[in-house]
Amino acid sequence: AYLLAPEEDLNDRKVLITAGGTMEALDPVRYLGNHSSGKMGYALARIAQARGADVTLISAPTTLNDPKGVKKIEVRTAAEMEEMVLKYKAEQDIIIMAAAVADYRPKDYSDNKIKKESGDLVIRLERTEDILAKLGKDKDNQILVGFAAESDNLVENAKDKLARKNADLIVANDITSADTGFAADNNKVIIISKDREVDIPKASKLEVAKQIIDQICEMILNN
Ligand code: CTP
Ligand code: CA
Repeated sequence: AYLLAPEEDLNDRKVLITAGGTMEALDPVRYLGNHSSGKMGYALARIAQARGADVTLISAPTTLNDPKGVKKIEVRTAAEMEEMVLKYKAEQDIIIMAAAVADYRPKDYSDNKIKKESGDLVIRLERTEDILAKLGKDKDNQILVGFAAESDNLVENAKDKLARKNADLIVANDITSADTGFAADNNKVIIISKDREVDIPKASKLEVAKQIIDQICEMILNN
């Protein structure tokens, strides 16, 4: 409960957060997507709201309750998420891309359910837009935060994403640890910026969210 105690260090700040995993339809019953419960993004929305921010949450489908006092916008696909992020981005002080955005979508959507046949099914996939990279390209006076879920070379891959996408912070998490990561209530991350790495030991996603927001606030103060 103390994590959600009202504080004021984000008063008058606008924060945009994406959450959940986008779903890219193949036909009316099937989709391609990434594992994501949405818990990390929703925890960030709750913490930011409690600390005084004006929070917009752009969410792919999840089973979670709407965080109180947050403007929530529901989307399904990477393309819809991109459209909404671009619609709201200009006025934001902080943008946190916690969503698991699908990197590919089926190139052709079938209006009818594809019937199974005896042989293999070949599906052609096309790339989706990299929303974070796009935000990084024409960044205003804005703090841009991304996530990196990695199975190996955690810090190296995360630093690469920080530079490639022109982000200010990358929250790196190792998805191979059993009780942290996707559906879990706990997480263990390293928060990486250009000049430092902060190790956050295993904690609840709400506690991890607090630590991430703390790092962002410190960045704002040092600007
Ligand atoms: N991201 C995004 N748009 C995409 C894919 C990813 O905005 N189409 C964002 C994610 O929300 C996350 C960050 O980019 O904040 C890193 O996502 P990740 O999947 O780890 O990196 P990718 O660049 O997609 O590389 P890969 O999946 O090959 O590791
Ligand atoms: Ca990806």
